[in-house]
Amino acid sequence: MTSTSAEKSLYAEHIAARQRTTEAALAATSFDALVISSGAPFTYFVDDQDAPLHETPHFAHWVPLRGPHHLLLIRPGHKPRLVRYCPEDYWYEQGPLPENFWVDDFDFYEARTREEAWKLVATNGRVAYIGDESEAARAAGVADSGCNHAELTARLDWERSFKSAYEVGCMEEAEKIASWGHRAALAAFDKGASELEIHHAYLTAVGCTEADLPYGTIIAHDEKGAILHYTGKRTKRDGRVLLIDAGARYLGYCSDITRTWTRKDCDPLFRELVKGLDKLQLELCERVTPGLPYPELQRAAHILIGELLRELGVLKTSGETAFSLGLTKPFFPHGLGHFLGIQVHDLSGRQAEPRGGVAPPPAHSPFLRTTRTIAEHQVFTIEPGVYFIEMLLREHRVGPNSSYIDWALVDRLAPFGGVRIEDNVLVTAAGHRNLTRPHI
Ligand code: GLY
Ligand code: MN
Ligand code: MN
Repeated sequence: MTSTSAEKSLYAEHIAARQRTTEAALAATSFDALVISSGAPFTYFVDDQDAPLHETPHFAHWVPLRGPHHLLLIRPGHKPRLVRYCPEDYWYEQGPLPENFWVDDFDFYEARTREEAWKLVATNGRVAYIGDESEAARAAGVADSGCNHAELTARLDWERSFKSAYEVGCMEEAEKIASWGHRAALAAFDKGASELEIHHAYLTAVGCTEADLPYGTIIAHDEKGAILHYTGKRTKRDGRVLLIDAGARYLGYCSDITRTWTRKDCDPLFRELVKGLDKLQLELCERVTPGLPYPELQRAAHILIGELLRELGVLKTSGETAFSLGLTKPFFPHGLGHFLGIQVHDLSGRQAEPRGGVAPPPAHSPFLRTTRTIAEHQVFTIEPGVYFIEMLLREHRVGPNSSYIDWALVDRLAPFGGVRIEDNVLVTAAGHRNLTRPHI
């Protein structure tokens, strides 16, 4: 987004679309109104400390107002009402509403107490509520059956998978911001920095705290790259490989980017693997087309990874055969991608239809989060990987298919962990637009 006025007009369109889709979802489920709360903080067990708040995604879909206990009331034919909860509280900062481009799109109120906030969203008819404050909703008169109604929530989740121009603009900003961090991480890695130092370089370049990121950074040297969600931060320096999976947020919207970098003293065969996977990842992005079921991309990823491993000598049979024998799975044991937006793993990737239901993943890829048909305006990740994970390879070291794998090469590459390349992709009418590559 280039200017505040562009942001403001795109946002007005976004809100008009939210009003339309929410009215349709209310009509389909026979509700007269919807209240959404921004959420209550999660307090740790027997403690007085709260986890960082992740606002209710359905609330964040309407407004980038941070903080707990805000309420939104949506009624057909009315401007949406936003009630900002701002208690008189000298323990925490409660400043005036900062300058913003969005408040004019609401019938806006402020409330000093939660009771007062709920009174401001009281309305007649059959009322639905979405959020984690059902007790407060019930106390305010919402019926049990209206709290987090499954079909209504599913319909809104389905709509969330189609990004408005405003949302795409936010996501592009999140890509740009994360790219500053990725570049700083690479520069630090080149100088021999430790995982912890690279993490700090990333945060400094992005300009936020860890709690502001969409997810904890995955910063792995060498063998730790084979741990898919590695969160350790070692102080040992001079890794030969860096796998960094880290994103950023802009107005609530996420990026989720992975790069794998190698130093010159890394095994040349592993460097070939990284180069090959990068090319393969771009080829998979090229195959993104409206109408294609996402699981077909998952299958293609397995076969292409099998081919790559054959070219490198790790597998001794074709990609097709390796896939049919289950031999690509230990090297690529996760889904190719997931929906992305307000949540790093946006909901509804496995939703069967707008009103709900589950489309299960294929048997060969139980962790695939995206089983839907690819459609224009969706944003998802394309993140193939190849890893050397002994607990998955072990069963193949013996048995009938053992001879299809060059175990000496596996053992030679295992100290370098793994490689993953992850971009964020917007589906267009003609194919896709890669949101990540213009930046890193
Ligand atoms: N950063 C977690 C993932 O790529 O899904
Ligand atoms: Mn991802
Ligand atoms: Mn990721």
